[in-house]
Amino acid sequence: MVIQSLLIFFLAAIAPVSAESGIDAWLRYARLPGSVTRGHLNSFPNRIVVLNASKNGPLASASSELHKGIQGILGLDLDVSSSGKSCSAQNTIVVSTLETYQSSCGKLSPKLNLKEDGYWLSAKGKSVQIIGQNERGALYGAFQYLSLLAQGDFSEVAYASNPSAPVRWANQWDNLNAATAAHGSIERGYGGASIFFNNGLIKDDLSRVPLYGRLLASVGINGIIINNVNADANLLNETNLAGVKRIADLFRPWGVKVGISLNFASPQVLGALTTFDPLDSTVIKWWTDKTNRIYQLVPDFAGYLVKANSEGQPGPLTYNRTLAEGANLFAKAIEPHGGIVVFRAFVYDQLNETNWRADRANAAVQFFKDLDGQFDSNVLVQIKFGPIDFQVREPASPLFANLPKTAVSIELQVTQEYLGQQCHLVYLPPLWQTILGFDMRYNHRQSYVRDIVSGEVFNHKLGGYAGVINVGMDDTWIGSHLAMSNMFAFGRLAWNPQADSQDIIEEWTRLTFGLSRDVISAIVDMSMKSWPAYEGYSGNLGIQTLTDILYTHYGANPASQDNNGWGQWTRADSKTIGMDRTVSNGTGNAGQYPKDVADKFEHTQTTPDDLMLWFHHVPYTFKLHSGKTVIQHFYDAHYSGAATVQKFPATWKSLKGQVDAERYVDVLYRLQYQAGHSLVWRDGISEFYRNLSSIPDKLNRVRNHPHRIEAEEMELSGFTTVNVSPTECASKYKAIATNGTGTATTKLNVPSGKYTVAINYYDVMGGSASYDVLLNGKSIGTWKGDSENYLGHDFSTFLDCHSAIRITFEDVKISRGDKLTIKGTGDAQEQAAIDYVAVLPQGVVD
Ligand code: GCU
Repeated sequence: MVIQSLLIFFLAAIAPVSAESGIDAWLRYARLPGSVTRGHLNSFPNRIVVLNASKNGPLASASSELHKGIQGILGLDLDVSSSGKSCSAQNTIVVSTLETYQSSCGKLSPKLNLKEDGYWLSAKGKSVQIIGQNERGALYGAFQYLSLLAQGDFSEVAYASNPSAPVRWANQWDNLNAATAAHGSIERGYGGASIFFNNGLIKDDLSRVPLYGRLLASVGINGIIINNVNADANLLNETNLAGVKRIADLFRPWGVKVGISLNFASPQVLGALTTFDPLDSTVIKWWTDKTNRIYQLVPDFAGYLVKANSEGQPGPLTYNRTLAEGANLFAKAIEPHGGIVVFRAFVYDQLNETNWRADRANAAVQFFKDLDGQFDSNVLVQIKFGPIDFQVREPASPLFANLPKTAVSIELQVTQEYLGQQCHLVYLPPLWQTILGFDMRYNHRQSYVRDIVSGEVFNHKLGGYAGVINVGMDDTWIGSHLAMSNMFAFGRLAWNPQADSQDIIEEWTRLTFGLSRDVISAIVDMSMKSWPAYEGYSGNLGIQTLTDILYTHYGANPASQDNNGWGQWTRADSKTIGMDRTVSNGTGNAGQYPKDVADKFEHTQTTPDDLMLWFHHVPYTFKLHSGKTVIQHFYDAHYSGAATVQKFPATWKSLKGQVDAERYVDVLYRLQYQAGHSLVWRDGISEFYRNLSSIPDKLNRVRNHPHRIEAEEMELSGFTTVNVSPTECASKYKAIATNGTGTATTKLNVPSGKYTVAINYYDVMGGSASYDVLLNGKSIGTWKGDSENYLGHDFSTFLDCHSAIRITFEDVKISRGDKLTIKGTGDAQEQAAIDYVAVLPQGVVD
């Protein structure tokens, strides 16, 4: 996390609000101002009565959380009692399960229709009832009540709330890591090391686990898979299973059940069997014994998550067994214990792009459709929201409409693998809701994805949500304060997929940053604009995130999509672009959807612009419904997306003094970084397609940078001109670099006045080059290439669109003819490398 200690020290001295690390996330229980509580404290209940709580169960947590929360928010120290008999609601917050409440206190009216984990919340003056269908439900009701209080909402309420689906799980992609490897790494995790694993073992210090459980419970998440889907069989050794028990014991008070990802080949890798054939009797026995052992240790174990025959993982296809036979192997072993098997539908093969009809988007339906009806009833097939892989825009996966006889769940990604890796603010619920609210028109009937995954459309008891969250040891959990809104929203949407994205971010902001109207409106405004902006500058019209899919999945590299077997193709050539997924002439993918939808996606006339290039291969000059050509839309979207986020730092700065110093500095650093990096994205993509298509930007922005001075055109000493790859990751395709010390000097031929000086340079993984920018020999700013100390994205070791970064110095007084010099000094691991300097009049972005 970003710690700029001097600045923090300075801000701490002037800030009216105390510093916060982010560890409490949205559960800060900050004291409400007197102006908000006035008139409410006297009419508040004076005790909490918990009926019949199990030892260390969710009811006990509900009671301690209510006590702690009310003390924090209102400054009231309520009596807590667990003496069963108090049915009198006077002056009391009663917390109970429905069954206990009704047996001790008689029927509740109105009659409640609570589903598993649901709750009843009634708050009327001095009398509050929090009644759960089970203990977990009561805990959720308590958190909901505390959320209202923390937002200063004292209105009378009386309502029942039920989750949309029974399975609402976090998926962590944590690696065990052997003793020799990096400690506790997390695949696609940007928030530090694992909270669970170290050196191939479960950590001794699991103190983060209950804190995480508390966060998950507060938004209704009831299960967690603790290890990477690319699973290590060693998790199943005796030492680690004892550790799984310790983890489960710590999550249990929060109603979070623990499950694990399995390596399909474990009987061979760990058990020394000669086979892992799912129909082999020794293999069946091995898994049955293992499962029985797990349930001895963890009686409420949630279940298994399985990635098989995908991206090099072992699976049943090795033995010519079906994926269903593979899933049922575990289903049968776990069924007597009441557990479930979540089998991932993310199965695909490498493909050859010379085959026009080859399409990775077809894979899930091709692998799974014919297996419908063959999965045991305790198997849930987990489907990524789109057919490819967590891209910035995808249609809903057609598999949701192809498995009527199978229970399914949706996999969403909270960690922003392809979406700025927590270093770009991208609030995801509006993207998720394009999927959850998509109507598949199964049999010409309304069938929203949200109702398919809840089990409602095809009448399944099982169904639900998985969020790939990937929190780590960072105090901000996920790597960035603002990115935590996605975790919060994942829970809220799994509970109620029709909740409004804006309401969710407003609630999260009040809980996380307090009730200042300025703060709320700034964060809500930036968040709601952030996904459209990111789509604008990363990859629009359904072409996917045009990131480097062969390397870090972070910065721009559109060429990396094609000419390889991964099937994330754009099929861009000098005249045309897009995947032809029509039935008539393409891969047939449109035909995997039910007829009403298939008909719509088959034709350009009925395909929405934002999915045009997902379904159609068209000329750059093709006219969209908007009236723009494809290429002009590309240019416009990249410019307007980047322009949107240019405003974020100023929006944030307007909150100075209203946000505690620690979070203020951290968020500002990231928003400034994003503003700069969005320009790298904008220019990289615009240049790439400008070169490929030879069609200029009608508004003459692409390749036209009147305020830039190319580093390679400056007077150089000690620096040499270097190529950058991909070339579009440098302005005019060149940069300068040095291992030692160099200077680049230029005379500024601008009217005298105040300017922002922006310098684009490169910051690779490790090392720490240092820089100084001088005006007429006097330093106006120094910095280091050490953003890896502050940002958690996957870093590159090359000069490219991942390492390209901008720093700006505002309000620099310049006179015509002034001499600007940049001095750079490399160190053993990092060259000093500069792309260009922009001398920007007030309000200009270039
Ligand atoms: C993506 C991601 C991998 C991950 C895979 C999965 O491809 O890049 O890191 O293992 O998804 O979901 O299984």
